[in-house]
Amino acid sequence: MDIILTADRPTGKLHLGHYVGSLKRRVELQNSGKFDKIYVMIADAQALTDNADNVEKIRNSIQQVALDYLSCGLNPEKSTIFIQSQIPELCELSFYYMNLVTLSRLERNPTVKNEIKLRDFKQSIPVGFLTYPISQAADITAFKANTVPVGEDQLPMLEQAREIVRSFNTTYAPVLIEPQAVLPDNKLCARLPGLDGANKMSKSLGNCIYLSDSAAEVKQKVMSMFTDPTHLRVEDKGHTKDNPVFIYLDAFAKDEHFGAFWPEYQNLSELKAHYERGGLGDMKVKKFLNQVLEATLEPIRARRAEFEKDIPAVFEMLKKGSLEAREQAAQTLDDVKTAMGINYFK
Ligand code: TRP
Repeated sequence: MDIILTADRPTGKLHLGHYVGSLKRRVELQNSGKFDKIYVMIADAQALTDNADNVEKIRNSIQQVALDYLSCGLNPEKSTIFIQSQIPELCELSFYYMNLVTLSRLERNPTVKNEIKLRDFKQSIPVGFLTYPISQAADITAFKANTVPVGEDQLPMLEQAREIVRSFNTTYAPVLIEPQAVLPDNKLCARLPGLDGANKMSKSLGNCIYLSDSAAEVKQKVMSMFTDPTHLRVEDKGHTKDNPVFIYLDAFAKDEHFGAFWPEYQNLSELKAHYERGGLGDMKVKKFLNQVLEATLEPIRARRAEFEKDIPAVFEMLKKGSLEAREQAAQTLDDVKTAMGINYFK
C-alpha cells in the first residue's frame, strides 16, 4: 500500500510559496493515480500549540485553507481532506508514543529549537509545543502513511517519527509503518523568496502574493517588487541572479508564455540575456511576470469563486473527510492497543 499524508498549519491563507513548495506537487501526486490513499490534514491542533490564546485566527484560517486546497485542484473524491482536532484517536496515540521519547531527545530537535528561538518563548515553552513532533508522529502513523511530502525543515520531524515507529515496533509488535519524507524536486520549489527579496515568502514578513489575491492586488504587488538595485537605468546591465522577479519567472514561466505574451523572446534564457546585457527595463519584465502569474492564478481564482458560493458544502466536505479519516485512525489505535496488550475487553 502506498499512502500519503500531508498537512498544513492553518495560521492564515496560503500563498505562492506554498503553491510551488507543496500544493502543486500534491495535486500532481493526487492525479498520478500511483497512491492507494491520500490524506490531507488541516493541522489546527498543532497550530494551537503556539496559539492557545488565538483560537479565532486558527478557526478562520481553516475555511481559507480548505478553499485554497479546493481551488488549487485537490479533489475530495481522490483525497481525504480533514481537520486534525476532529480525530481524537490522534491524542490517544500521542499519549502512548510519549512514553517512547525522552525529554532530551525533544529538546534536541533542530526545527523545534529554531522555532522556540523565533517565538522567543525563553523559559516559557508550552509543553504542547515542545511535544508536537510526537503528535506529528501520531498524524503520520495513524494513517499508515509511508510517504510524507514535506519541506526540508520537516526532516527532523520525520526522523523523530521514524524513531518512534522503530521503538514501538520493537517494544510491542510491528504494527506501525516507517514513513519516508519526499522533498520538493528542486531548490526553487523548496523556497520562493518574498516580494521584497527576503529569502522566504512569509505572512509575518508581509511579502506574499496570496492565492486568494485579486488580479488588481497581484498586479500592484508585482509592479512594486524588489528587483536588481544596481539596475537604475534601462540601458544599465542587469543581474538576474538573486533578483526575485527572475526567480519567480524561473518558477512559473513556460516557453509557451513567451509565444502568448512576449513573442520577441523564445524563452527565459533569451530574456535573461537581454536583461543582463542592458537595454531592458524592469517595468516590461514585471508586466510579463504579472501575465505569467495570472496564467496560474486566474484558474485558481475562478474555481475559488465557485466554491465560495457554497461554504456549507465546503464544511460538509471537511466533515465527511474527517469521519473517513477517523475510521482509519481508530483502526490503527486498535492495532496499537492490541500490540501493547491493553485492549482489555477484547
Ligand atoms: N508541521 C507541519 C508544518 O508546519 C504540519 C504538519 C502537522 C505535518 N502534522 C504533519 C506535516 C504530519 C507532515 C506530516 O508544515
